[in-house]
Amino acid sequence: MDSSREKDDYYPTPPDATKKMIDCCPWLLCNNNQTSYDVWEPACGEGHISEVLKDHSIKTYSTDLVDRGYGDLRNIDFLMEQKSLAPWIVTNPPYKLANEFVKHAYKLQEQSKDGEGFIFLLRLAFLEGQKRYEEIFQHTPPDTVLVHTKRLTLIRGDHESAWYGSGKTAMAWFVWKINRFKKDVDQPSIQWI
Ligand SMILES: C[S@@+](CC[C@H](N)C(=O)[O-])C[C@H]1O[C@@H](n2cnc3c(N)ncnc32)[C@H](O)[C@@H]1O
Repeated sequence: MDSSREKDDYYPTPPDATKKMIDCCPWLLCNNNQTSYDVWEPACGEGHISEVLKDHSIKTYSTDLVDRGYGDLRNIDFLMEQKSLAPWIVTNPPYKLANEFVKHAYKLQEQSKDGEGFIFLLRLAFLEGQKRYEEIFQHTPPDTVLVHTKRLTLIRGDHESAWYGSGKTAMAWFVWKINRFKKDVDQPSIQWI
């Protein structure tokens, strides 16, 4: 077994993980106009998250840095984008760039008049770390952390494998809602899914 990480950090998200997230975020399916919010999946891979969102009738724009034959726009570096494509951004970002993705998503959604927030699948250990606390959590904590009670098996996207066996990685969905007008930020809540 090759223990190195996949070059572009391509680890597709098991569809069940996205289904559980949607179950906990029913408001995604019902905005003020009683329709679902549009979503941007900016690191879509082969569409494992996007397809589940679409199955729930959520209009989804999909982009990725790497062209894997999926998506509305190909070879788009999320970190270079200056405008958000949708009120919500949902992804499982590349592990190595997770901090940068969070900070950039916050900036884009805060600047966008329609920006509501973003939902990222991250390692549970993302909660740790002095530097991350200072850069992210101190000023812009998530609204909710949805902790997967079962560990997820994330398989390298360049390996021919199905999702099987016991999971290896403790993961959680982190939900950031943009608080434009609030000076004091609420403390995050935790749910187990
Ligand atoms: C962990 S995989 C997740 C794929 C997909 N979101 C899913 O959950 O199945 C991370 C993805 O981020 C993409 N990626 C890496 N750097 C990126 C960047 N700067 N901008 C956009 N996508 C990037 C990789 O090509 C890869 O498809």
